[in-house]
Amino acid sequence: MGKQEKSGHLVLVMVPFQGHITPMLQLATILHSKGFSITIVHPELNFPNPSAHPDFTFISIPDKLTEPQLSDNDVAGVMRSLNNNCAAPLKQCLNKILHSHGHIAAIIYDTLMFCAQSIAHDLRLPGMTLRTSSATTLLFFTIFPQLDDRDFISTIESPELQALQLQRFRSLLSQNPTKAMVEMRATFTNAVISSSAIIVNSMEFLEQEALSKVKIFFPAPIFTIGPLHKLAPTIRGSLLTEDDKCISWLNKQAPESVIYVSFGSLASIDKEELIEAAWGLANSERPFLWVVRPGMVGGSSEWIELLPNGFQESVGQRACIVQWAPQKEVLAHAAVGGFWSHCGWNSTMESICEGLPMLCKPFFGDQLLNTSYICNVWKIGLELHELERGNVERTIKRLMVDMEGKVFRKRALDLKKDAALCLMKNGSSSCSLNDLTNHISLSSV
Ligand code: UDX
Repeated sequence: MGKQEKSGHLVLVMVPFQGHITPMLQLATILHSKGFSITIVHPELNFPNPSAHPDFTFISIPDKLTEPQLSDNDVAGVMRSLNNNCAAPLKQCLNKILHSHGHIAAIIYDTLMFCAQSIAHDLRLPGMTLRTSSATTLLFFTIFPQLDDRDFISTIESPELQALQLQRFRSLLSQNPTKAMVEMRATFTNAVISSSAIIVNSMEFLEQEALSKVKIFFPAPIFTIGPLHKLAPTIRGSLLTEDDKCISWLNKQAPESVIYVSFGSLASIDKEELIEAAWGLANSERPFLWVVRPGMVGGSSEWIELLPNGFQESVGQRACIVQWAPQKEVLAHAAVGGFWSHCGWNSTMESICEGLPMLCKPFFGDQLLNTSYICNVWKIGLELHELERGNVERTIKRLMVDMEGKVFRKRALDLKKDAALCLMKNGSSSCSLNDLTNHISLSSV
């Protein structure tokens, strides 16, 4: 057994989308630093660059996902196909690894790659799940659909959970679920309930009440180890090329003057919305850095050609538009004073760690819940309800100029301090990480 293998060999199973790839690579890096050797099993789609991670062994398995499926916006359907198509090759691959290594300490899979749990069980290996979103989301797929109204109400009786308006999300969730959604919830639930550990990229203080509920409903120990990007700061898991020119542009801007705008890796807007966002930003009179991802506007291959006539002339050097930014560096830059985000969980955690107030425009899934945390529980941001130029302009000014924004910033800075405490020697995330490494060692004996 080599030096890095003193703690054992872990197999990590990824979900091939940006918001899932990066946290899994971060966890791999952290566990490698604790002495584990790492094999990453990855569906063919969006395969990460192995040469950027020389410490890990990468194995690709066929996912048979098709282009029409991927552009269909049916997340549950894609996840069901991904799991159905990957199950047999994953099992074959794990058998091969077992054969060549003789031992696997644990299989750690993304919660959405739930087929890995039953395979781990068949092979008599500990299966551990990584939730790349909030701990609170675990309640939605698994617990809430099973509770009757009375039990549901008593479960969410706490000021934090009341403020989150979980009742609203529960009814959204139960509106005409597709067959794929119902199946996915059931399989997801079985996997999480049978797992031997639940790892969450979060911080105890952020979701204290929800975490206490999650702990009641799941038999496996929960390890809240976040923010992963601060524990593994060197990992750059971007699938698109990060355009560093925005950093030299930021260097020329006044402190806290810039609003950074990004809708993450999946959300898309139509051309009308792009035009309203563009004029809202222009009329706000604030400098802005805007990520316009290729394909973000109605799937079009055009890029800034889609921006309205006269827009570029009107904003001049006050705007910097890129296809993909080094986001963590941007958020940490002194010139950035606010973040207009789709509120994906990674972006939310990254923003909190830099103490930034947020403008929230959620699109789907957990982004709505994250927005509720940001605006109603942590109170560090505002929701942008209508993507209309006047509303965009007014809301940006409320966040970036008005007293209201200063109060959000003050609270966000308090959260930044709390986040730093989590990572200190006796902080909740550091302790949880130590507990996890002990748990893996004990589970694999
Ligand atoms: C998806 C879902 O949309 C989200 O709701 C879920 O929580 C995770 O999966 P995504 O759209 O990728 O997430 O958003 P997010 O979770 O915020 O992750 C995006 C990642 O890409 C972040 O780590 C961010 O730093 C990075 N990013 C984004 C860049 O590095 N550069 C960019 O220009 C934009």
